Amino acid sequence: MNEEDRSLTLTMIMEPRQANIFGNIHGGEIMRLMDTTAGATAIKYVKSNVVTARVDELQFLKPIHIGNFVTSTGTIVYTGNTSIEIHVTVDAEDLRRPNSKGRAIEAFFTLVALDENERPTRVPSFAPGTEREKAMYEHVKTRREFDRKRHEEAKKHMGGSEREV
Ligand SMILES: CC(C)(COP(=O)(O)OP(=O)(O)OC[C@H]1O[C@@H](n2cnc3c(N)ncnc32)[C@H](O)[C@@H]1OP(=O)(O)O)[C@@H](O)C(=O)NCCC(=O)NCCS
Repeated sequence: MNEEDRSLTLTMIMEPRQANIFGNIHGGEIMRLMDTTAGATAIKYVKSNVVTARVDELQFLKPIHIGNFVTSTGTIVYTGNTSIEIHVTVDAEDLRRPNSKGRAIEAFFTLVALDENERPTRVPSFAPGTEREKAMYEHVKTRREFDRKRHEEAKKHMGGSEREV
């Protein structure tokens, strides 16, 4: 499977209604765009309904302003049995200024594929090919393993888990 089948890009010009009184775009507006990007990337890949289960490593790196041209790209970087992880990056650009494009936000979204009965269903597995894909895959795998252990610890000590609050 080539990268084109595993990724998708949405673009948008930021409008005044999406900003605060100082002209900065609300974080929630971009998170919504990122969630839409992750959902569309996942649907394109699994060809079924999906739901967002989790967001990791959300980082606001650079402010986005009214009038910026925003590019949101989702790429499948990891697959489990029924879940997939998508790296979503958001770049912002002032079209009046050459070379102004820069990374504004990034995050990893976990989505779960659902069958017609809304139960989790298997996803096509993704095997990383390039060095970059392999590094990203290992990064996600390590975080997932860490999270699984933390989840088990929480269960042991609190009789439940943060997923069940
Ligand atoms: C996500 C959801 C379908 C999982 O249902 P579930 O009964 O817990 O399903 P399972 O235990 O079989 O887990 C299914 C997969 O989801 C993953 N998963 C479930 N909860 C998760 C969480 N909080 N974080 C990360 N992964 C999670 C599991 O690891 C498993 O992945 P795998 O098959 O690749 O190993 C269910 O919790 C749900 O519907 N949540 C609400 C989703 C939603 O409304 N999102 C917002 C709007 S899109």
